[in-house]
Amino acid sequence: MSTNVTWKSRWTFILAATGSAVGLGNIWKFPYITGEYGGGAFVLVYLGCILLIGVPVMIAEIMVGRAGRSDPVHSMSKLGKTAGRSANWGAVGGIGILAGLMIMMFYSVVAGWALDYVAQSLSGNYLNSPTETIEQNFSQLLGNSSEQFLWHSIFCLITASIVAGGVTKGIGKSVDILMPILFGFLLLLLGYSWVNGDFSAGLHFMFDTDFSKLSSDAILVAMGHAFFTLSLGMGAIMAYGAYFPGKASIGKTVLTIAALDTVIALVAGMAMFPLVFANGLTPSQGPGLMFVTLPIAFSNMAGGQFFGTIFFALVSIAALSSSISLIEPGVAWLEKYGIKRSLSTFGFTGLAWLGGIACIYYGGVFDALDYLTANIMLPLGGLMIALFVGRILPRDTSVQELGMGQGTLFKYWWFALRYIAPIGIILVFLNSLKLI
Ligand code: PFF
Ligand code: NA
Repeated sequence: MSTNVTWKSRWTFILAATGSAVGLGNIWKFPYITGEYGGGAFVLVYLGCILLIGVPVMIAEIMVGRAGRSDPVHSMSKLGKTAGRSANWGAVGGIGILAGLMIMMFYSVVAGWALDYVAQSLSGNYLNSPTETIEQNFSQLLGNSSEQFLWHSIFCLITASIVAGGVTKGIGKSVDILMPILFGFLLLLLGYSWVNGDFSAGLHFMFDTDFSKLSSDAILVAMGHAFFTLSLGMGAIMAYGAYFPGKASIGKTVLTIAALDTVIALVAGMAMFPLVFANGLTPSQGPGLMFVTLPIAFSNMAGGQFFGTIFFALVSIAALSSSISLIEPGVAWLEKYGIKRSLSTFGFTGLAWLGGIACIYYGGVFDALDYLTANIMLPLGGLMIALFVGRILPRDTSVQELGMGQGTLFKYWWFALRYIAPIGIILVFLNSLKLI
């Protein structure tokens, strides 16, 4: 990552950051964990975490990236030193790089499932099939390690070749055109569910808040997912922030990205749950939710083979623009030590590829990586970033970097970053450890 390249405009940064944010987290993970953790109350806690913790932390991450103009490790240690405090804050960036690697290990396996469903759609595998067959298709894929291995490897290879070429080149364009089309497809599926699904049962499930269903684990998962879905707490957005144009408003940009990400997740959920209830499926069926409900829709709609193929291709591309940002911080960091971009990219992605193989062949690795990264490492990283910007760097640095004066908005953000976000994260951790 060369430090004198900046994104051409605020819009280009929005596209890249949105590309990182919008991915499997929205379309695959959000609906299935909402199903597992009981619906409405979980969704409400998740939305609260996005607004009260995610948005303020995202502003802080971009700010650090732009002010440091380097990879997460060097940006944080440089700013720490300049502020007359410790350069050891760079370690936060280091843990983030590790988190990115660990996320990539299972993320690329799920992206491989999406690729597999491109092939299944193209060949008409699930066309005009009963629900049971469509459910079996997914279990068969889970039981077929060599098929998962193939698609996982292909996905890693594509990610690596894009990162090796330098991220500023291709992402903007693909997000610019393909993400709106993906959103269009989600709206099409939503329309299908409205007409053919049990729409009211789906909406009740997602939005009726029954707090008696809310376990402390559900709260931890909701908060963890807020970080995961916005790509926060590991330096991905910070690495992109290094390209953020000097004068543009960070606050407005962040609200745009968070809103887009949230709307896409909610629409995905609203498209799937009505199909769950209309077809006698269980909301808590786990990671297969999207790979069962959506093929049911495609299998019955006119042109489903075509729409299904394009849809799963778009999901794979959305996953790609996210996986790029999982690898980029680590590659940018190694580049600072003079290691060639291509070498570090293939080394880094190679490690993730090996981890993915472990996920495919050994039960439990997948879940452990998912749990450890989303629910512990990302919130912990977010906590450290909030403390760093809110309590270690001088207030003036933030005032100058954000350039929005010191009015109400700034005061709200400053308060959220210093108090709401860190206290919230700590309370959720303590609660999940059953200490409060
Ligand atoms: N935000 C991505 C998603 O919702 O699919 C996942 C992700 C990408 C998490 C990059 C973290 C990250 F750094
Ligand atoms: Na997301």
